[in-house]
Amino acid sequence: MSTKIIPYGKQNITKEDIDAVVNALNGDYLTQGPTILEFEKKFSNYIGSKYSIAVSNGTAALHLCALALGVKNGDKVITTPITFAASANCIRYCEGDVVFSDIDPETYLIDLEKVEELLVQNPKGTFKGIIPVNFAGRAVNLEKLSELAKKYDLWIIEDACHAPGGYFIDSKQVKQNCGNGFYADFAIFSFHPVKHIATGEGGMITTNDEKLYNKLLELRTHGITKDSINFQNNIDFANGISGEEYYHGWYMEMQNLGFNYRFTDFQAALGISQLSRAEAGLIRRKQIAKKYRDAFINKEFIINQSGLVEGHAYHLYVLEVKDRLGLYNYLKQNNIYCQIHYIPCHLMPYYRNFGWKEGDMPNAELYYKNCISIPMFPGMSDDDIERVISEICKFYE
Ligand SMILES: Cc1ncc(COP(=O)(O)O)c(C=O)c1O
Repeated sequence: MSTKIIPYGKQNITKEDIDAVVNALNGDYLTQGPTILEFEKKFSNYIGSKYSIAVSNGTAALHLCALALGVKNGDKVITTPITFAASANCIRYCEGDVVFSDIDPETYLIDLEKVEELLVQNPKGTFKGIIPVNFAGRAVNLEKLSELAKKYDLWIIEDACHAPGGYFIDSKQVKQNCGNGFYADFAIFSFHPVKHIATGEGGMITTNDEKLYNKLLELRTHGITKDSINFQNNIDFANGISGEEYYHGWYMEMQNLGFNYRFTDFQAALGISQLSRAEAGLIRRKQIAKKYRDAFINKEFIINQSGLVEGHAYHLYVLEVKDRLGLYNYLKQNNIYCQIHYIPCHLMPYYRNFGWKEGDMPNAELYYKNCISIPMFPGMSDDDIERVISEICKFYE
């Protein structure tokens, strides 16, 4: 009898989720309807930001943030090599230059001391912004980063795709939720199936800045505005009534080159339903992390592991192990499908074209040789967790 496949991550879809989507499909709007705004408000409430904007995926979210911040040809932006390529690619979409800065080998997050070195070594104004990533669900200390950002005039886009519900404690002992906009200009999230909240495809941008929020609304829909205060054409051209400054319902202006990065109402219905279980999912992820940590803590084959960290949202649970490839293949043969997060971004062939090479990011490169993401999703049963632990231990016996 073949054993059940355990993937590294998986969506959790309930009857309530399905009913919510069916309900939305039976409603008046498939897109541009009120369910999107409802999801955005509930998401802001959960995260603690003033504004949220739902978009078609996390990559679109990054692209819109880069556009709203005015990234242009030659602008240099710093990010981590241990991330999904989209964190860096958004800068290239705007023809900016990506500057990778190495990770801290303990936390796997961008090393803020190395970022500071980079900033000190270059004339002020060299860099326009930074994209920290809450890799695996662990929060970057944005308070420290924002001090640097202020000093060197950088904007911050927090890539929080792995960390809805994650947080760090700042120097005033205040809990700062990932994506709450307190220390960053923008944060972005993804609703890809392996993420905490799954809507198939989907993404969210959060911000506390009203101006940037309005800019995003426009850019999400082709660069079109319906806000008459900002209209640029003559009112006669719009068949409007001058004096009363009255415009007809059909009138709109495309003022900037935007995109169609919209989210749909049935995705929003799924998002709302998923969001109502986000906290329960986090609790389960933390239970799984504790079982893993306890099982592996003194094992000779472990070099390092995600461990137990306050505020960690555990999108992933990472082990650094001896004979990573052997373990990966053994688990695969036994229907446990792990993943490698990530192949360092600076060594992707596309980024090698810009001169990045082996040896540039020693910590990230060493991490890549040993890392493996083992199964982590709320739908795992206790038996699944035990199976993962016992198969890993069996491989090294
Ligand atoms: C860290 C990170 N940033 C950005 C993205 C892009 O999100 P999406 O797949 O929704 O475009 C992902 C998704 O995998 C991610 O993990």
